[in-house]
Amino acid sequence: MMNARFLGGMWRGVGTSVLAIGSFLMLSGFLMAAEPGGTTTGAATKVVTFTKDVAPIFQAKCEECHRKDSMAPMSLVTYQESRPWARSIKERVVQHQMPPWHLDKTVGIQEFANDRSLSDEQIATIVKWVDSGAPQGDPKDMPAAKQWPSNDGWQLEKQFGRAPDLVIKSKDYWMPAVGQDQWWKPLTELPEITEARWVRAVEMRPSTTPGRKITHHAIAHLQQNERNNPLAGDDNATAAAAGGGILMEWAIGKTYDVYRPNTGKLILPGARISWDIHTHAVGEPITDHVELAVWLYPKNEVPKYRTYLTMFNAARSGAGEALDIQPNTIAETQGFHVLRQAARLENFQPHMHLRGKAMLLEAILPDGTTQTLSYVNNFNFNWMNNYIYTDESAPVLPKGTIIHVTAWHDNTTAKASNPDPNQWVGWGDRTVDEMAHAWVNVTYISDEDYNEWAAKHKPARGAGRGPNRAAATPPAQNN
Ligand code: HEC
Repeated sequence: MMNARFLGGMWRGVGTSVLAIGSFLMLSGFLMAAEPGGTTTGAATKVVTFTKDVAPIFQAKCEECHRKDSMAPMSLVTYQESRPWARSIKERVVQHQMPPWHLDKTVGIQEFANDRSLSDEQIATIVKWVDSGAPQGDPKDMPAAKQWPSNDGWQLEKQFGRAPDLVIKSKDYWMPAVGQDQWWKPLTELPEITEARWVRAVEMRPSTTPGRKITHHAIAHLQQNERNNPLAGDDNATAAAAGGGILMEWAIGKTYDVYRPNTGKLILPGARISWDIHTHAVGEPITDHVELAVWLYPKNEVPKYRTYLTMFNAARSGAGEALDIQPNTIAETQGFHVLRQAARLENFQPHMHLRGKAMLLEAILPDGTTQTLSYVNNFNFNWMNNYIYTDESAPVLPKGTIIHVTAWHDNTTAKASNPDPNQWVGWGDRTVDEMAHAWVNVTYISDEDYNEWAAKHKPARGAGRGPNRAAATPPAQNN
């Protein structure tokens, strides 16, 4: 029953919560302070109009999802379409809920390959536009309409200039209009793989837009024999220990993985895909399947580095283990994982459920120093954002480094998506249970590679790189 309640909210935007108003006011205060008396430069002095100032921002940062037949509930392409949403738009951008990017911008690494957040200046422009009555402006100022690829194309096709080498499809799954969450775990053989092949990139999606609505996440585990490979698993006995690890996880906000040059995942002959597709009801019956597109390295090209999608748990996973979230409290859990070989971390993707509040990723180096890597301070269950580091910003760490993950769950009324703060909550698969782990693509390198990297980067990137969090306390803001 609870299901229907929160899912109804999910697509109507649980995130628009009155609870965020405190921080919302604070932020608008901050933005206004930047324009004392409305006489300073930039957004403050001129009249801000949709056609001239706002449309270019929407084209760059919103239309990807807010256009006809796309994933968002409304289109923000034309003035007529956008105007009715002005108030809601202001709220969402000021709270840093839209575009979905819930990372604390004041600590840790800040360069990402897929950063879709707004700059402070863009936020100020939108706020000014809404506050001045959301005027249209001169239609002649309207930028040319942005051309979007049709929804059925693969996004990476453009980047690679060719269709994927393999498209692997799961069997169909379906959800009734109302019902409990379901987990669909079919197997798909890969007869196409007759010899070891290296993967350059993967892209995954439910095959239709309605299918995206019912799909909470879809994981493609690679089942293959890796029993004698110590790197394939982490000390917390994750899914990776069972085989080739995870090839790809799809969740709203995460659609593809492109490995860095000379880096890939390995598929062995005899491998099969074991799907783990979590669906929830959204008020209409929907049938769909998941598709996984794979771009391979040419047969004669063997990349030097192998990447493993690794689950760094903040709590041990398993019924009754480690996660112990008391009613009406904010709970903190931590996990520690030793890197068995020097490695580069490619991304950070926190995974929690409805009460997830914040997650911090740190590296404790063998010399005892701690690096704050990333901190998501405003976790929103609707968005399993994947924060992909750039070639330059990806942290490179020596063998023996401890990856320290800290997670906070907010089991109070302050968390708008919390279905019931009076319940005790433990680890579990259902959306009303909790999880707390970070998905990180770990690329192992040799000590030699590490030393070479360190020699080049040490002065600029010692232990103090990026502003560190003095005390790892969760933020006041909620969603
Ligand atoms: C990655 C996709 C994506 C991007 C980019 C994105 N949105 Fe959204 N937006 C959504 C989805 C999906 C929803 C509905 C679910 C939710 O609220 O989280 C939504 C909801 C909203 C809502 C709330 C609608 C309501 O029901 O009240 C507003 C307002 C909004 N977006 C504005 C924006 C603006 C403005 C931008 C750009 C500055 C933007 N969004 C960028 C996907 C996106």
